Amino acid sequence: MTKLTPETIATVKATIPFLSENSVKLTCEFYHRMFRENPEVKEFFNPAHQASGAQQGALAGAVCAFARNIDTPENLASAVSLIAHKHVSLGVQPEHYPIVGKHLLGAIDALLDPAPPEILEAWGQAYGFLAEVLTGAEAGLFADKPWEGFKPFRIARKVVESESIASFYLEAEDGNPAPAFLPGQYLTVRIPAADGTTTMRNYSLSSYGNNDFLRISVKREEGGHASNYLHGELTEGGLLDVAAPSGDFVFDFERGDAPVLLLSGGVGVTPILGMLHANAGKGCRVDFVHGAINGASHAFKEEVDALVEKHENLNRHYRYSEPAEGDEPDSTGFFDLALIEGLLKPDTEVYFCGPKPMMSLVHSALNELGHPAERIHFEFFGPQEELLQCPMH
Ligand SMILES: Cc1cc2nc3c(=O)[nH]c(=O)nc-3n(C[C@H](O)[C@H](O)[C@H](O)COP(=O)(O)OP(=O)(O)OC[C@H]3O[C@@H](n4cnc5c(N)ncnc54)[C@H](O)[C@@H]3O)c2cc1C
Ligand code: HEM
Repeated sequence: MTKLTPETIATVKATIPFLSENSVKLTCEFYHRMFRENPEVKEFFNPAHQASGAQQGALAGAVCAFARNIDTPENLASAVSLIAHKHVSLGVQPEHYPIVGKHLLGAIDALLDPAPPEILEAWGQAYGFLAEVLTGAEAGLFADKPWEGFKPFRIARKVVESESIASFYLEAEDGNPAPAFLPGQYLTVRIPAADGTTTMRNYSLSSYGNNDFLRISVKREEGGHASNYLHGELTEGGLLDVAAPSGDFVFDFERGDAPVLLLSGGVGVTPILGMLHANAGKGCRVDFVHGAINGASHAFKEEVDALVEKHENLNRHYRYSEPAEGDEPDSTGFFDLALIEGLLKPDTEVYFCGPKPMMSLVHSALNELGHPAERIHFEFFGPQEELLQCPMH
């Protein structure tokens, strides 16, 4: 592993104020250069994240976090795990790192107009160090994958779960059983893009414990490319390119029989539902709380009700923000501190996933209640930096 000198560390740290102030500008310049000179890496990136600025923020955020922790890399462990899983899910390879490094340094140089050589030298070494950390973590993850790249799966069943969510039951075209995965993990699907290339998206596995199929459940997003393709064009019998399961938001079975609180909002139910299945009949008490707008948008109600009915350790609570006539939720409104406090014990393991405002609210409530950070686990369906920028956070 490359060792950074105290001088390199000092030079990189001295650039933090400038980088923080200009992080979005820097990352925009970086993407502009990279996509112009190396268009082959473009298909890795979600154009919607580019348009919303989320990815600009994500890379800039990572660069600043890295610079801040350059002499204490152990502080980066959880970020490295998240990024490595994301990169591996998309098939980012070691040969892509010099491309990113070249354009990152080019962008720093352009911004400082021009950068003093010692700054470029220090950043070159620092980038090389992080690239080594990430490629090392990624090599380990790649080695464990049941198949390389993408493999065709047939849509065995397509099931409507709510007014906007449909499930896809996927069976490997080669006849092999579905791969093992951990509850909470996601797949990557590769579909045709509008410009004739391909584009990739992650979808959490909403099933668990049946190796005949993998199930993903997708919400149709207005103006969304992949979700409309899946809902509108992919029918039963059709084929979908799928990469092996990834992701470090996984249920930790090592925590013994500690109580479990599973919170989900909207389509954020998918990884949480897998966790509910995985805990059916176990020794721990599990509270599953799901928030939906109303009955029409509430997915998997029958499936959850049947599970809870069958297994004594499982409990459920449904909260609707705008119940329609005839709906019978257990409570109404948004998630709030009182709801969470009522279900929380000091040793409760909390897992949550949902839309940004719900995530921010739950996170703030858990912090306010002084819940230990190591018992809080969450997944966000987009770059985490976007979550951190949410005004409700
Ligand atoms: C780990 C993980 C797990 C996930 N699990 C699930 C899951 O289980 N189920 C699920 O439904 N989703 C899940 N997602 C989200 C999923 O990956 C997709 O992001 C989602 O389906 C939207 O993709 P899309 O292609 O339909 O929309 P996109 O085309 O990516 O668009 C997203 C939004 O941006 C807008 N947009 C697109 N292009 C532009 C533009 N140029 N300018 C301005 N706005 C634009 C669109 O109108 C839309 O509202 C997960 C994401 C992650 C990271
Ligand atoms: C040291 C170098 C790198 C760092 C610090 C870094 C950092 C990050 C971070 C923080 C995220 C967001 C993770 C999340 O919150 O979901 C991310 C996502 C991503 N990274 Fe990297 N990365 C690096 C190198 C690369 C390389 C070499 C590639 C290959 C082209 C790459 C491609 C991607 C893609 C495609 C995404 C997802 C983008 C999206 O959501 O559209 N990264 N990276």
